[in-house]
Amino acid sequence: NAQINLAVIGGDGIGPEVVAEGLKVLDAVSSAKVERTEYDLGARRWHATGETLPDSVLGELRGHDAILLGAIGDPTVPSGVLERNLLLRIRFELDHFVNLRPSKLFPGVTSPLDLEQVAPDGIDFVVVREGTEGPYTGNGGALRVGTPQELATEVSVNSRFGAERAVRDAFARAQARERKHLTLIHKHNVLSHAGHLWRRTVEEVGAEFPEVETAYAHVDAATIYLVQDPGRFDVIVTDNLFGDIVTDLAAAVTGGIGLAASGNINPDRTAPSMFEPVHGSAPDIAGQGKADPTATILSVAMLLAHLGRDDEARRIEEAVSADLAERGRTPRSTTEVGDAIAARV
Ligand code: IPM
Ligand code: MN
Repeated sequence: NAQINLAVIGGDGIGPEVVAEGLKVLDAVSSAKVERTEYDLGARRWHATGETLPDSVLGELRGHDAILLGAIGDPTVPSGVLERNLLLRIRFELDHFVNLRPSKLFPGVTSPLDLEQVAPDGIDFVVVREGTEGPYTGNGGALRVGTPQELATEVSVNSRFGAERAVRDAFARAQARERKHLTLIHKHNVLSHAGHLWRRTVEEVGAEFPEVETAYAHVDAATIYLVQDPGRFDVIVTDNLFGDIVTDLAAAVTGGIGLAASGNINPDRTAPSMFEPVHGSAPDIAGQGKADPTATILSVAMLLAHLGRDDEARRIEEAVSADLAERGRTPRSTTEVGDAIAARV
């Protein structure tokens, strides 16, 4: 198909700046006509109207082929308002049950790790973070707030249905990769109910993928492996909260969150998927042209791959890889990075 109907949510802070560069590269690489609709969502709209995500806008988002998001979150809005009512609401309503976060160390990129020591064969893994359940469901509450008897709960919701569809997706990804290796990250020695469910699910779904070798790591141990032996990972599957945490660490060891891309994927394609950099809105550097748009540009590559435009996705990755290999010490502006990558695709 010669047209991509794209919904664009620049969002807060550096979001609009990095999204502009993502769109620049998209236009440069794609033979498709990119028909885009911009949605004004985030802190500005909330201050102006009190709205986070009106139902009508959610309905419109559903009509697109994909969504490109910059970042959501602003210190002038109470914590959780935009996160829950905008970002998580989109992920839940559009059934983005696979939050896909690749971690790849590109040649020439500086890692805080002593790579020759801990990862002589490089780092290249992908995290399948379950995206619709866990403690993110808002299933909890508070009692007697402000008293010495105050009580707060955040209940982690783990359905067999939810774990199974994420696990099956992760196995399929592992099967398609060279190493065919899948690690479940959890904490079954303490979170035994959910841990049992996830472990059994991996075991049972694994029967459908006899070629895929499986491993298990408790999440605390996994943070050590991510620093001391990241090369052991190929595909990781984990719940929503563990996935949130380990993907920030994974980004840090592969060059920082300025490079980390993600896709909130609805593999069943009952609704559009949404692509966004892993980083946040960075209000401290917003509007200064300092933000690195590379993570957003790589998220655009994921978007194209999701739409079946693998060749265009690959060209972006190669352009980013070449750009990273030649990046000097002099910092470039947001637009300079976007221009350089756009010129290479
Ligand atoms: C992320 C972010 C979000 C999350 C926040 C902003 C709700 O940290 O995309 O990783 O926790 O999923
Ligand atoms: Mn996060």
